[in-house]
Amino acid sequence: MKKFIQFLIFIIFLPKNAVAFSEETVDFEVSEDVEIGKVIGKLTRLDGFTYRLSRGNSKIHFDPETLEVSTSSKLDHESEDLIDMLIITNPPSIIHLMIKVLDVNDNDPRFLNDFQQISIPETAPIGWRVSLSGAIDPDTNRTISNYTLVDEEEEEKEARIFGLFQSDGLIYMEVIEKLDRELKNEYKMRLVAIDDGIPSRNSSCLLHIQILDTNDNFPDFGIRSIDIKYNPKTDGNKIFRLNATDADEAENGRITYKVVENDDIFEISQDNTYLLVKNNTKLEEETKNTRDNEKNEKKKVTIEASDHGTPPLVSFLDIWIQVVDNLEGKRKNRNMNEPNINIRWVFEKTNWVSDFFGEKKKLKMIF
Ligand SMILES: *[C@@H]1O[C@H](CO)[C@@H](O)[C@H](O)[C@H]1NC(C)=O
Ligand SMILES: *[C@@H]1O[C@H](CO)[C@@H](O)[C@H](O)[C@H]1NC(C)=O
Ligand SMILES: *[C@@H]1O[C@H](CO)[C@@H](O)[C@H](O)[C@H]1NC(C)=O
Ligand SMILES: *[C@@H]1O[C@H](CO)[C@@H](O)[C@H](O)[C@H]1NC(C)=O
Ligand SMILES: *[C@@H]1O[C@H](CO)[C@@H](O)[C@H](O)[C@H]1NC(C)=O
Repeated sequence: MKKFIQFLIFIIFLPKNAVAFSEETVDFEVSEDVEIGKVIGKLTRLDGFTYRLSRGNSKIHFDPETLEVSTSSKLDHESEDLIDMLIITNPPSIIHLMIKVLDVNDNDPRFLNDFQQISIPETAPIGWRVSLSGAIDPDTNRTISNYTLVDEEEEEKEARIFGLFQSDGLIYMEVIEKLDRELKNEYKMRLVAIDDGIPSRNSSCLLHIQILDTNDNFPDFGIRSIDIKYNPKTDGNKIFRLNATDADEAENGRITYKVVENDDIFEISQDNTYLLVKNNTKLEEETKNTRDNEKNEKKKVTIEASDHGTPPLVSFLDIWIQVVDNLEGKRKNRNMNEPNINIRWVFEKTNWVSDFFGEKKKLKMIF
């Protein structure tokens, strides 16, 4: 069962000659960047009325004498865009004071981070894109109208290797020129966001762009072939110090050497730095010149340098080895020793010591 409640509505009729009670709304507008103390507006005084602030706002001052409305502190559209105040009069009536705080372009665009790390493979083709995080604008109804890329290292200069591509509110960095990590392996750029205010405001974010290595450099010996004189007596088993370089990074640049042929005679040292003779007997046998004992044949050995990329890249070096024969070796050694004759003075008989500087002393020269 439903119960119905009746309401009685009392209508109050005021005496004919009295001023009618009224409730009105007064609208003011003020720009959020207005200076403190500025008069925003003024109420119109009705004869015989007094005014009193009933509900105020800490940022707005109402003067009951002059009826002026002014700012008493800084306004901010982003935190309070409508200020609602209440003024009561005597004889009684109500005035709603509505102050609209208008937005001005007082906020810079804002990036989530001051810094973005970006990696691009050095083989990235022209047109390759990587997405960037863009900025937002805290001002109401204002958006980022444009982004630009500025070279951080060449102050204020526009980037040449990279460009920007914008689509559906997203922003991408685009490779517009061929990259080469071996030439330059990192870039510092500044992404500048500009809002659509007049005048506009901007802010920026640093892009640290790292170019990732791909295995695009061959090991490099600097030479294709080299002639070496090898003397087993003085050189031990070390024939040649291997010194290829590889411009790539990490595994792509790590080199391992290998003897391509004659690995029964030659080998690479454990530490991957020297070409060594494994079997000297065989080397001397194979280089012996039967007609001219003084002039041995050259022996060629090919060394392969391979990096550890996937797939690896290889280069070769031909080493021509001439074994400097023993005869030549001996002659060389003798010749070298000639200026340094080792002279020792030896007394033949020790009992002559008392007569050390006498006539009878005998000397023996030993070479
Ligand atoms: C902001 O944009 C909205 C929607 O487009 C619009 O209704 C509002 O009036 C705008 N405000 C200002 C202050 O321009
Ligand atoms: C964005 O800025 C660049 C460089 O300042 C300018 O060339 C381009 O015209 C601008 N684009 C728009 C849509 O304003
Ligand atoms: C960014 O703002 C500063 C200061 O207003 C101005 O000097 C600079 O030219 C602006 N940069 C861009 C790219 O608009
Ligand atoms: C390696 O050493 C040889 C002989 O000393 C030299 O000619 C060559 O330039 C060197 N190569 C590199 C890449 O340093
Ligand atoms: C070295 O070579 C000689 C001659 O060819 C051979 O007789 C000998 O067995 C080899 N030595 C080794 C350790 O291989």
